[in-house]
Amino acid sequence: MDAAQEVYGSQYPLVSRYVDILTTTAVEWGLMGPREAARVWDRHILNCAALSELIPVASSVVDVGSGAGLPGIPLALLRPDLQVTLMEPLLRRSIFLTETIKKLALVDRVQVVRARAEDHHQSYDVVLARAVAPLDRLIGWCNPLRATGGIILALKGESAADEVAAAKRQLESARLRAEVLTVRAHPDAEAATVVRLTARP
Ligand SMILES: C[S@@+](CC[C@H](N)C(=O)[O-])C[C@H]1O[C@@H](n2cnc3c(N)ncnc32)[C@H](O)[C@@H]1O
Repeated sequence: MDAAQEVYGSQYPLVSRYVDILTTTAVEWGLMGPREAARVWDRHILNCAALSELIPVASSVVDVGSGAGLPGIPLALLRPDLQVTLMEPLLRRSIFLTETIKKLALVDRVQVVRARAEDHHQSYDVVLARAVAPLDRLIGWCNPLRATGGIILALKGESAADEVAAAKRQLESARLRAEVLTVRAHPDAEAATVVRLTARP
């Protein structure tokens, strides 16, 4: 059994369906490069699933700049306890997301909001962002969406520590503490680097 099958268990058929959508419709719609298709499981599904261990049970979650549904859809499929909002400003992408959550039977606990983060006025236990903007800009967009006591998780690559250093001023003015964490969805999966932002005590 491969890592994704072990991670997703009984949800594996649904996440496979999502991978089919990413490698066909998302490529046709220009939301995913054709070369990405071969690497979807490692670079996208398991990379996003690695965030799960940092998300408290029964959280409300917003995925800012969801694009083709990453990381929100792999997490919603893995964690039936979460209420997930996929936020995406572009019309074409928001249509793709709406159709995809219907195909995956997720409409009862996943919703799509067509908006830019800075224009959206609701709060969530967990604010997620992957490949959306540098951390200094993300803080201004994501912190107003964070409920009291909530967290921001920014999925970053090797640049994480440098981005934290570059965001020193924004972290101070928003009174946020930053931690750079390494998480994995499975011992055989690649590690993901995450910046977790929480309110300073
Ligand atoms: C590079 S894509 C990343 C998509 C997805 N998160 C992923 O990891 O594949 C960045 C996405 O952020 C969205 N975006 C850009 N500015 C935004 C803003 N101010 N608020 C919310 N989303 C934004 C874009 O429309 C785009 O879909």
